Amino acid sequence: MFRLLSRSSLPQASTLAPKVDVLYDFILWISLISFVAVIGALIYFVFRYRRRTESDKTPYITGHSVAENAVAVGLLAVVMAIFAWGWIGYKEIIQSPAEALEIQILGRQWLWQVEYDNGRTLVNELVVPKGKPVQLIMTSADVLHSFYVPDFRLKQDLVPGAYTKLWFEATEAGEHQVFCAEYCGTAHAQMFAKVKVLEPEEYARWQAEGGQAQVAATTGGKKGAAHSVHLAVNLAEKGRQVFTQKGCMACHAVEKGKILVGPSLFGIFGKQETLADGSKVVVDENYLRESLMDPQLKLVKGFPPLMPTFRGVLTDEEVNALVAYVKSLK
Ligand code: CUA
Repeated sequence: MFRLLSRSSLPQASTLAPKVDVLYDFILWISLISFVAVIGALIYFVFRYRRRTESDKTPYITGHSVAENAVAVGLLAVVMAIFAWGWIGYKEIIQSPAEALEIQILGRQWLWQVEYDNGRTLVNELVVPKGKPVQLIMTSADVLHSFYVPDFRLKQDLVPGAYTKLWFEATEAGEHQVFCAEYCGTAHAQMFAKVKVLEPEEYARWQAEGGQAQVAATTGGKKGAAHSVHLAVNLAEKGRQVFTQKGCMACHAVEKGKILVGPSLFGIFGKQETLADGSKVVVDENYLRESLMDPQLKLVKGFPPLMPTFRGVLTDEEVNALVAYVKSLK
């Protein structure tokens, strides 16, 4: 089977990759067949209807509605098939499985910071288990970046001030290159990272050991100098500390059934809230972040507009930690 040269050497390292490739091949073949048909017809008509004698006159053709409609309907069918196929794939890409392992990614000029639930932070290296769905919760500290893993056929922008998500299930152990695919300044072209896929038992061991020694050993001597910093506290615990330091607990209870000035945060993540104007919102990462930065924008029904903005007060890391803490309250 004919495969495009540019990806003939690219491994299919995620559950999504073969599906993307099949659609890609389909579009490629349709395009190729259309190209040959159009150019072929063109060449045929040039010879078939060329002027043979001086008196040859081109007939005046007003139209052929059967042929025209057939072409229009045929093309529409092909385009709609591509659209429907792409739509089905897109829905699969944006909806992660519920049991996915969550990892935070913070893009900044010009590196990738990876943070795990247990507080471990890696730079330019993402370690994941094979055969398990992984959800990346991503944001940027400065400008737009884009997390691009060709082996997984996945790419997603990181947007400052908001969270974007990307999920995948790696099917091949080993290292996979990550590129930044959004021009982000001088060192954009050097903004590399590696996704390191471990066998599940190897991953469990890596997590248990704290990772530091192993990461140092596997990346030592290679260019791109990934390194890891092991933090004593996990992300939700860090969030609990920020919650106390910034005085959040004055207005928000974290125990079940207790309500202070603002809504209780117990079990709030993933729930649907009714807002002051009667509309509904699902409490997700972006809603929590927005509520910290622009608290009056989407007020929960029945609560006064008293919360101050925390824009400029909290760093991206602190917002990530607070979100992790709120998630842990259940
Ligand atoms: Cu980050 Cu380009």
